[in-house]
Amino acid sequence: MKKKHPCSSFPHFIHGADYNPEQWIYDKAVWDMDMQLMEKAHTNEMTVGIFSWAKLEPSEGVYDFSFLDEIIDKIGKNGKKVILSTPSGARPHWLAEKYPEVLRVGQDGVREHFRARENHCFTSPVYREKVKNINRKLAERYGNNPTVIAWHISNEFNGECHCQLCCDAFRDFLKNKFNNNIDELNHNYWADFWSHTYANFEQIEPPGKNTETGIHGLNLDWKRFVTHQTKEFIKCELEPIREITPHLPVTTNMMFEFYDIDYYKFVDIIDFASWDSYPEWHSCDDSVIASKTAFWHDLYRSLMKKPFLLMESTPSLVNWKPYNKMKRPGLDVLSSLQAIAHGSDSVQYFQWRKSRGSSEKFHGAVVGHDGTDNTRVFRSVKKTGEILEAIDEIAGSFVDSQVAVIFDWENMWALDDCQGYAKDDKKYFETCYDYHRLFWERGINCDIVSPKSDLKGYKIVVAPMLYLTDAETIENLKNYVSDGGILYGTYMMGTVDANDLCYLGGIPAKDLRKVFGIVSEEIDTLYPHERCHTVFGEAEHELIDYCEVIHPETAEVVASYCDGFYKYSPAVTINSFNKGKAVYQAARDRQSLKSAIIDMLIQESGVTSVVDALGVLPHGVTAHSRTDGENLYIFVENYSCDESATVKLRKKMKNMLTGEFCEICEIAPYGFAIFKEEH
Ligand code: GAL
Repeated sequence: MKKKHPCSSFPHFIHGADYNPEQWIYDKAVWDMDMQLMEKAHTNEMTVGIFSWAKLEPSEGVYDFSFLDEIIDKIGKNGKKVILSTPSGARPHWLAEKYPEVLRVGQDGVREHFRARENHCFTSPVYREKVKNINRKLAERYGNNPTVIAWHISNEFNGECHCQLCCDAFRDFLKNKFNNNIDELNHNYWADFWSHTYANFEQIEPPGKNTETGIHGLNLDWKRFVTHQTKEFIKCELEPIREITPHLPVTTNMMFEFYDIDYYKFVDIIDFASWDSYPEWHSCDDSVIASKTAFWHDLYRSLMKKPFLLMESTPSLVNWKPYNKMKRPGLDVLSSLQAIAHGSDSVQYFQWRKSRGSSEKFHGAVVGHDGTDNTRVFRSVKKTGEILEAIDEIAGSFVDSQVAVIFDWENMWALDDCQGYAKDDKKYFETCYDYHRLFWERGINCDIVSPKSDLKGYKIVVAPMLYLTDAETIENLKNYVSDGGILYGTYMMGTVDANDLCYLGGIPAKDLRKVFGIVSEEIDTLYPHERCHTVFGEAEHELIDYCEVIHPETAEVVASYCDGFYKYSPAVTINSFNKGKAVYQAARDRQSLKSAIIDMLIQESGVTSVVDALGVLPHGVTAHSRTDGENLYIFVENYSCDESATVKLRKKMKNMLTGEFCEICEIAPYGFAIFKEEH
């Protein structure tokens, strides 16, 4: 296994931040201070240019790169690297003034005024052209500058536009999908319902506040279109970049619990994944926050099957949540190392220096308004930098996972839209988190994958609430089990097809019925106060929210309902299918039933924890591993605020930070340790 660094010309952990020196252009002494502080903080990278368009092109076609020249030069001379951003996330005034088409139109049909950021029209030919122009200039000027190691495309793409250009592009997208045949569209959208049959493509409008939202296939295709159009926009951004700087890798920063874009579709246009992580630490048990954050680290690592970058995180607090709490001492370093444990090759912050005015003036930063290194936050950033230097040999290494949880944007959109079940809160994210947490609390590396990804090699794959399963997914899951995999599915599996049409003839649909060896007849949504029960193994488990009534066909029933009119009917089944097995959990439980099922599957499949654990680790503790093919690196993390934890390693190993060898380790509250198993 060869190490794979996201920025191949810089084979180290990256420790850096979003840096906005243009805000301090009137006082360049600040820049010089920054250079000294960057060195003291043990950083080695700054991401620049994200919101610099107004400075770089102060009026149309008039470019001024003097500030960027100077700052890149200073950073380079300071021995550090730059990730260079394209500035399309926020446009200059002149552009909006002269070409209003670049401004977004809302669902209500109203065009925005110049405001905010990340709110341009993705379709506008003018915007695409202007972005290509400035990107070309940047690529020509800095593409061969050895300080620059990668491209950061725009910033956190999000949202949608309802202007005429976008509506037309949407119609073209649908014409292409339905072979220019409106009858085909009507049929696949079930549009005769409520007499909403379309006579032609021109009648189609994007779903919105005053337009059609009752056709679920249309709603789903609109979301697909938004991803498609965002991607088309990125491709435009990339034209000059790929042409002039084919040697520089490209990313765009993605987000937490992000709804608008199916990021799986980005894999063929970026070179590595990166994301911005802002968990709500201390809002409840930190182990819950840690495992949710871990889910997204795992997803972005799995996206490209290689190390990713933590592009943004706050070294202390954010300023945009309802309550902006500081990270407790210790947790800042721990949460940074968490990213590394899950396969990140960087810890980067938003922001290097706190801005003086405007909306982010109270957002956490490495350097505060006092402008010194004499702060708790600065010291803690420095400590993270020192640790990253000490463990630099881990950079570029991989995470090997024997298990995976399936998460799917299209499924989420369809579930969310569907009128049924618990109408307004199906809890898809939460359910995926709950299944992922089973592995997190056992110290088992876990990938988060699309239902269409290659599942070969995983011993266990969990597919929670996979309501939308298209033909490709069905085939993929079937082949996985047939070849010997263990698939663990749940209620709602295989209910609708790619157009959100219900499968006829019994669900789970088509071959999934054979794979699971069951057929589902009905599903009961419980009121929030209601409970049902089942017995699995020795224990009784409480059931909440959903109880599906299923019938075994070839499956063995391993747990039945204890109450209600469906008492004695199956709650959990196992089916052998060719070389593999499929477990079906028909009802939602709090966690104990899942936990018992997963223990059974772990035992059966031979999946192992990265530490010496049978079952769950002490509360709040988790462990992960990375490998470069020769050495194994074990990270043990403790998210408890007040309890130390004792964890047994699989053998005596070297603590990379203390140099001691041990087999039993004691981890302090908000503490961690990194061990190396040499070969
Ligand atoms: C991110 C954004 C940054 C900054 C940060 C504040 O979403 O990319 O520019 O605004 O949030 O937390």
